[in-house]
Amino acid sequence: MTTYSRIIGVGSYLPERILTNADLEKIVDTNDEWIVSRTGIRERHLAAPDQFTSDLALRASQAALQYADIDPASLDLIILGTTTPDRIFPSTACLVQDKLGAGGCPAFDVQAVCTGFVYALSIADKFIRSGSAKRALVIGAETFSRLLDWTDRGTCVLFGDGAGAVVLEAAQEPGIYSSHLYAEGQYNNSLTVPGYIAEGRLQGGNGFTTMNGAEVFKLAVANMSSAVKEALTVNQFSIDDVDWVVPHQANTRILGAVAKKLQLPSSKVVQTVSEHGNTSAASVPLALDTAVRDGRIQPGHNLMLCAMGGGFTWGSALLKF
Ligand code: UT7
Repeated sequence: MTTYSRIIGVGSYLPERILTNADLEKIVDTNDEWIVSRTGIRERHLAAPDQFTSDLALRASQAALQYADIDPASLDLIILGTTTPDRIFPSTACLVQDKLGAGGCPAFDVQAVCTGFVYALSIADKFIRSGSAKRALVIGAETFSRLLDWTDRGTCVLFGDGAGAVVLEAAQEPGIYSSHLYAEGQYNNSLTVPGYIAEGRLQGGNGFTTMNGAEVFKLAVANMSSAVKEALTVNQFSIDDVDWVVPHQANTRILGAVAKKLQLPSSKVVQTVSEHGNTSAASVPLALDTAVRDGRIQPGHNLMLCAMGGGFTWGSALLKF
C-alpha cells in the first residue's frame, strides 16, 4: 500500500518588534502610499539583535509539535529551509534539533531562498513515502532583515523576519498528493546576496540583497502559476477543487496576477504579506499557520502551496489538510 505524508501539526512565530511603513519613512526616502500601492505591505516584524534564525525556528517548531501533541524525541527527520542560517556551519537544523532535545535523527538545511519551505516539504514527503522516515519536522525560518541595506529603498521595505513549521507523519491516505520543484540558475544574478566568506572576511562585493524587481515580478507570476497548473493536472484536480491557495507572500500585486492567471477568486488566496512582509522561506508556513489558527483552513480542505525565489527556484505542493 502506498504511504503518503500528511500534516499533523502547524506552528509559527513572529518576533515582537514591528516596523511600520511610517517607521521606514523616517530612515529612507519612501512613503506609506508607495509601499502599500506597489506591494500591499503595511508592516513587518524584525528579530531582536540577540535573536537568531534558530530561535525563531525553535518557537515555531514548539508550536507545531504542541499542535500535533507529540514529543520532539519521536521525530526522525528535521529539514529547515533558510537563507539566513545562524552560522556558516553547522546547519541551523542541527541547532534547532539540539534546542528541541530531538538528537539522533538526520537534520539539515535547504537553501532555495523563498522556495525553501516548499523544497523542504517536498524532500520530507519523499523521505516518508520511501519509508526512510515516519515523522518529520519541516521548518521555514528567516532573519532576512540582516541581509538588507537600510539605505536601499528598493529592497529594505519589502522583507521581514519570522518562522513557520509543520509536522509531517506517514499516513495511508493523502496528505500530500504531489509536489513539484524547479530551478533556473541562469537567473542567479537577478536576486542575490553576492558576498562570500574567504580569508576570514566577506569578499566579492557585499552582504546585502540586490534584486531586479521587475524581472522577479514577471517570472514569479509565470512560474508560480505554471507550478500550480502542473500540480492540478498531475492529480486531475480543477482549480475549483482547491479550497485555499497558500502562496509565497512577496507582493499583493503578484498574488492578484497569479489568481487572475489561474481564474481563481482572490478570496481563496491566503494573504498575510500586509502584516508580515516577505519573510522568504518562512512565508508559506507562516501564512498556513495563520489561516489554520483563524479557522479559514479546516481539516479536509485541499490546499495548494506555491512559491518562487532566488535561484530562480520555484515549486508547488497539493495536499489535503
Ligand atoms: O520573493 C521574491 C522577492 N522579490 C520580490 O518579490 C520583488 C518583486 N518585485 C516587486 O515587487 C516590484 O518590482 C517592486 C515592488 C520591487 C517595485 O515595484 P515597481 O512597480 O516595479 O516599481 P519600480 O521598480 O519600477 O520603481 C518605480 C519608481 C522608481 O522611481 P523612478 O525611477 O520611476 O523615478 C523607484 O526609484 O519607484 C521608486 N521606488 C520607490 N519609491 C518610494 C522604488 N522603491 C521605492 C520606495 N519608495 N520604497
